[in-house]
Amino acid sequence: QSIGTGNLIRRADCKTLFVSRKHDTHKGSFGTLAVLGGGHGMTGAALLASRAALHLGAGKVFVGLAEANPALSCDLLQPELMLRPAASLLGKKDAGIGVWVVGCGLGTDQGAADWLAATLHAARETPTVVDADALILMAANPKRVPARKAAWVLTPHPREAAQLLGCDTAAIQANRVAQARRLAAKYSAWVVLKGAGTVVSSPDGRWSVNGSGNAGLATAGTGDVLAGMIGALLAQGLDMDDAVRGGVWLHGAAAQDLSARGIGPIGLTAGEVIAAARDLRNRP
Ligand code: APR
Ligand code: MG
Repeated sequence: QSIGTGNLIRRADCKTLFVSRKHDTHKGSFGTLAVLGGGHGMTGAALLASRAALHLGAGKVFVGLAEANPALSCDLLQPELMLRPAASLLGKKDAGIGVWVVGCGLGTDQGAADWLAATLHAARETPTVVDADALILMAANPKRVPARKAAWVLTPHPREAAQLLGCDTAAIQANRVAQARRLAAKYSAWVVLKGAGTVVSSPDGRWSVNGSGNAGLATAGTGDVLAGMIGALLAQGLDMDDAVRGGVWLHGAAAQDLSARGIGPIGLTAGEVIAAARDLRNRP
């Protein structure tokens, strides 16, 4: 497929990012989101997704840590986040979780596979973002992916997409649009195929290519940030099309804005992308 302006995600396509808040609101108006990730040695990935969700406007954010005995019970630099062992988060029936973000730093061992299966079951009627190790685990254990009633979005980088489709990374990169659409059809999911020129596909095959972003994003943690950002937009009531396309565009636009301010692309950090995306959303 050739990419025309009709298939390019630009600022003008993301108007729902910039609706202003009414005066008479409370945190319940902006949704409760839960991140499930953070296996041993990878707490940071779950925290980055969670911090991104908080800064993009989610009302409340829980962090379920898959590690057996998490060393952290609080993010001391972001005490607004509610850290829980995964078991206690999944056992909580009345948490009012309106969006799940699954997989950031989850790990791929047997314990992680069990947490993923339990989370996908709990989340089958809740909009869900699936990222990183959760995608690797889904590819390895297709029988443990339950049928869904709510929409979901898969956010693979090319290697993760290759595992989900059972091909190699070169085959993904050779025709990114077609492969994103194939993945979307296979899982009846929205798909964000990441990398320079991120491709978005809806389950019915509508597709677009992101027009924002720069090579500063080629650093660890920016993928986790994107997953949290999309989750936050869903928690605030944007529909899948708007949350996915808007989140992808805003993530890239944040990197460009930082670069214009002399921050990055060399040495850009994922945490800086969170703050810049928050700033952009507040200055329409
Ligand atoms: N131009 C524009 N955007 C880019 C570029 C680029 N050159 N390079 C990367 N990005 C964007 C991607 O589109 C995506 O949004 O940065 C983000 C990177 O996300 P991931 O590839 O998921 O990386 P991340 O998860 O943050 O960190 C590395 O990936 O390979 C796995 O297991 C590995 O945990 C590790 C993780
Ligand atoms: Mg990633």
